[in-house]
Amino acid sequence: MKFFVDTADIADIKELAATGLLDGVTTNPTLIAKSGRDVFEVLEEICAVVSGPVSAEVTATDAENMIEEGKRLSRIAKNIAIKVPLTLDGLKACRHFSDKGVMVNVTLCFSAAQAILAAKAGARFISPFVGRLDDIGQDGLGLIREICEIYRQYDAFKTEVLVASVRHPIHIVESARLGAHVATIPPKVIKQLFHHPLTDKGLEMFLRDWEKTGQKIA
Ligand code: G3P
Repeated sequence: MKFFVDTADIADIKELAATGLLDGVTTNPTLIAKSGRDVFEVLEEICAVVSGPVSAEVTATDAENMIEEGKRLSRIAKNIAIKVPLTLDGLKACRHFSDKGVMVNVTLCFSAAQAILAAKAGARFISPFVGRLDDIGQDGLGLIREICEIYRQYDAFKTEVLVASVRHPIHIVESARLGAHVATIPPKVIKQLFHHPLTDKGLEMFLRDWEKTGQKIA
């Protein structure tokens, strides 16, 4: 399973990239606004740190202007994935870019029917939002199960399932069990994945016992 980080905070991206566990980045208009930075400037900086796909979202709502914005965004770097919303116009723009070999991430997916459309439009990634479905009392992980099952039926569907709107480690573990290709995860949740109280306790014991030997390895 590939790990993308869902942020436009360059300090967090640098810290996580240094672990060697980061495969890409996703941003959206909200995250760019939160960074307080110029969209082109911050995306350029992110692409210089991470060589994997970096999603940059269009803000136009009609296909023609989405394509215009997408062209500008894709000039930032080769690893930019154009992010479009799951609307009729978004999928028109998706087809345009996919035919040109540009990666497209189709976002705001809340149903299996929408995920089928995105695959047919040649999307490189489909982003189902698990947390926002859970928030309204629906089954976010159930949607991941459905999409993974459908995509597996068709060799022609090359779209990767990118689990988005992740709220906690269980979303990651269960999505991995279902075979989702990618998860885009907030920095805080990536850090939560490392922790287990028995790891901390065990390490403390090992170090205490080791100190008693008076030895050094290096
Ligand atoms: O970037 C898309 C998605 O991950 C947003 O998540 O937490 O705003 O529902 P959230």
